[in-house]
Amino acid sequence: MSITIVRSINDLRSHVRKWKKSDESISIVPTMGALHAGHLSLVREAKSLTDRVIVTLFVNPSQFDSPEDLDKYPRNEDDDIDKLNSYNIDLLYAPQTDEIYPIGHSTKIVVSGVSRGLCGDFRPGHFDSVATVVGKLLIQSLADKAFFGEKDFQQLHVIKRMVADLDLPVEIVHCKTIREHDQLALSSRNSQLSSNDRKIAPIFAQTLFDAARQIEEGVDVATVIHNSKEKLIMSGFSKIDYIELRAESDLRALSKFDESGRIMAAVYLGNVRLIDNVEIRKC
Ligand code: PAJ
Repeated sequence: MSITIVRSINDLRSHVRKWKKSDESISIVPTMGALHAGHLSLVREAKSLTDRVIVTLFVNPSQFDSPEDLDKYPRNEDDDIDKLNSYNIDLLYAPQTDEIYPIGHSTKIVVSGVSRGLCGDFRPGHFDSVATVVGKLLIQSLADKAFFGEKDFQQLHVIKRMVADLDLPVEIVHCKTIREHDQLALSSRNSQLSSNDRKIAPIFAQTLFDAARQIEEGVDVATVIHNSKEKLIMSGFSKIDYIELRAESDLRALSKFDESGRIMAAVYLGNVRLIDNVEIRKC
């Protein structure tokens, strides 16, 4: 069976109205396409938890750092549809930019606190744009549950904060990061790596897993982070935006491992920016 695709808010809402009338629960899985097994794990989880699943495909221009960054983002809707075909989703919502941002659009959602620091420092305005588009998708779809990956851990916190602060009637469900066999976190941006950089890329995740283990074993946090940065630079990573230990619950900076946290990092390999994080549990 082929997937039903809608491109307008009106069409989306007419499906949602029908489902709500018959008391069916609805999930939304927001994506920017270039789907991989990480996205599909969210779809699978959504399928298992609600009656209806909407996947959204919208490359949100305002959340990119530059026109070049937006330009080189991989897009292939036909491939995405092929990948979704076996998941039996109920709707693919793939609006054009002017459906989401019609002329005159002037409202922004700004989440302070968790948007600051980490990627927030290196990508000014990025999380405002993410919060705005996700807020719109949640309101447009009236979904009961929305699914996000822990891969983008700061994004997840921003969205949870927004939903709590705006009293949006939706449950945010988060799913574990899906990795390649060599531990590289799946990302649509991995396809932009040169073949040589693709060989180096797994050292990023491996370094974070090593760092997490050392911190769990009691090695000083600042020392572990310093050594991790050195290792990445020696391995060929071109730039490190940050490596930090942050609290699992609210992203507070942790200088000591006295509660569960995440080692969170953003680095460049060539011109490609990679982000990842690894959980460190305090039992
Ligand atoms: P995108 O990068 O397409 O990711 C869509 C969702 O897939 C996000 O919730 C992201 O965290 C999750 N995801 C990505 N890689 C993953 C992996 N390896 N394992 C598990 N989940 C993974 O994130 C965005 O799009 C956008 O910012 C969006 C929320 C759609 C707003 O435009």
